[in-house]
Amino acid sequence: SWTMKSFVESAIQAVREGVGEDQVICALSGGVDSSVVAVLLHHAIGSRLHCIFVNNGLLRKGEAESVQRIFRDHFQLNLIYVDASKLFLDRLAGIVDPEQKRRIIGNLFIELFEKEAGRLANAKYLAQGTLYPDVIESVSFKGPSATIKTHHNVGGLPERMKLKLIEPLRELFKDEARLVGRELGLPERVIMRHPYPGPGLAIRIIGEVTPENLAILREADAIVLEEMEASGWYDRVWQAFAVLLPVRSVGVMGDERTYDQVIAVRIVESVDAMTADWARVPYDVLGKISNRIINEVKGINRVVYDISSKPPSTIEWE
Ligand code: XMP
Repeated sequence: SWTMKSFVESAIQAVREGVGEDQVICALSGGVDSSVVAVLLHHAIGSRLHCIFVNNGLLRKGEAESVQRIFRDHFQLNLIYVDASKLFLDRLAGIVDPEQKRRIIGNLFIELFEKEAGRLANAKYLAQGTLYPDVIESVSFKGPSATIKTHHNVGGLPERMKLKLIEPLRELFKDEARLVGRELGLPERVIMRHPYPGPGLAIRIIGEVTPENLAILREADAIVLEEMEASGWYDRVWQAFAVLLPVRSVGVMGDERTYDQVIAVRIVESVDAMTADWARVPYDVLGKISNRIINEVKGINRVVYDISSKPPSTIEWE
């Protein structure tokens, strides 16, 4: 649209003027906000934008590859890919407490991001995908000077690293950020992506995060997403995902008795994640998801559907 076009043009102009000849760093997660910021900045300053993408080993199936394909191969932006899967898994060994998982993952992310950003000695700016609701929330909770939410992956970093913040989306709502992304040619899959938590699959494995549990959950989760897309339900819900439960139950497979784990399928509708309701997805879609998970994912012999709303339940299980 005309208004989006002019917003994008003036945002690009503002970035060019603000940044001058300097270098900019951005933390790319593959989510809508950071993706839109990355592509916008790339339009403005080209190779002087350096995006850092950390693979924490807790991503969905194919996610690390797809981020590299889209941003490095297609948009040709400067992408620093850090594969830290093993490091994250090592630090998560033996940890079952959800908040402890979050702390470990958050701290290690900052550690790695700082190290990579430190190599870009000429960088003066950090670009972030802060949206208007983020600004409001931080202002009302922590006073006008604190404009970065603590739960943001890079919260606190700009000051420590003496970087100035660039937040080109800070006057936009999510749907407007999506329009900007569309204007900039981001693929529809990126623009319409569901929210995905920073700690990723770690908080969807109830109990210890092991390579075996991750492999099981990643396959089950991919089936949930595939069937949501195939049935046309993906765009109608807020989030859809699988959760691996630390429970074994009895089943039969051919002539064999099985004693395997359980997958809970969580699909919710929401407008802001503050409240949510379980999605009334057709039984046939749920049936297909269940059949496929049980037949295709070794180690799973039972699938349940989570019919709790928020509150009192949360969207995530941890
Ligand atoms: P809950 O489970 O609190 O989730 O109802 C609300 C929304 O927040 C997401 N979420 C997170 N996102 N880091 C994130 O970046 C986290 O630690 C985290 N925990 C929950 C969740 O996916 C939902 O969209």
